[in-house]
Amino acid sequence: MKQLSVAIDGPAGAGKSTVARQVAKQLGLTYVDTGAMYRAITWKALTNGVDLTHEDAITQMAKNTDLRLSMDVKGSDVWVDGTTVSEEIRSPEVTSNVSTIAGQSKVREVLVDKQREMGRRGGVVMDGRDIGTHVLPDAEVKIFLTASIEERARRRYQEMVRRGFKVDLEQLKKEIGLRDEKDKNREHSPLRPAEDAIHLDTTGLSINDVIGRILQYCRTNV
Ligand code: C5P
Repeated sequence: MKQLSVAIDGPAGAGKSTVARQVAKQLGLTYVDTGAMYRAITWKALTNGVDLTHEDAITQMAKNTDLRLSMDVKGSDVWVDGTTVSEEIRSPEVTSNVSTIAGQSKVREVLVDKQREMGRRGGVVMDGRDIGTHVLPDAEVKIFLTASIEERARRRYQEMVRRGFKVDLEQLKKEIGLRDEKDKNREHSPLRPAEDAIHLDTTGLSINDVIGRILQYCRTNV
């Protein structure tokens, strides 16, 4: 029997990964962070000096990359060709360049194939921008998480400081706004809620409130 699939989409900093990881843990499902996959390819291109706008070169590189994710409650580990890059893919440089790669349809096809393979038998909580609309359109539970831009910038700021990066809150707010615009307005698989997604605005809610609500939606769908 196919296990439950949960799709969690939304803009940067809405709390998707924290919430998705905990929901997966509570339900005994596998967490898949698809943003980490776009970040990993961006990191590899930057590290190898590949022109980020050269779609064919990036697509070929993505096809030839051994990309592995291992997620647990503490965090996510991401390996590119056998090297762990979990911290590197969260750098400001990768963050400000990832939308360029994520806007390329051929690159998306390569990563979406890998994501669908991971979700083929169900049993996943997958977060991203196009999971409910495109990657797992048959997911039993689809959530669209949002929060005000001020709150999202504050959360990202705290996360970056915790990771040891020096960041400016106002600058971060501008960058998040820019990334939202690029993700929403791109031609291929733009960020938008699936028609059957449940909208959840997390502004002012605690992480535990959000997790509790999503678990409730999941339990009514099993
Ligand atoms: O979720 P995260 O902020 O790590 O995602 C980084 C970037 O990867 C997003 O801004 C977006 O451009 C891209 N992305 C995407 N589709 C997904 C997941 C992430 O285009 N399913």
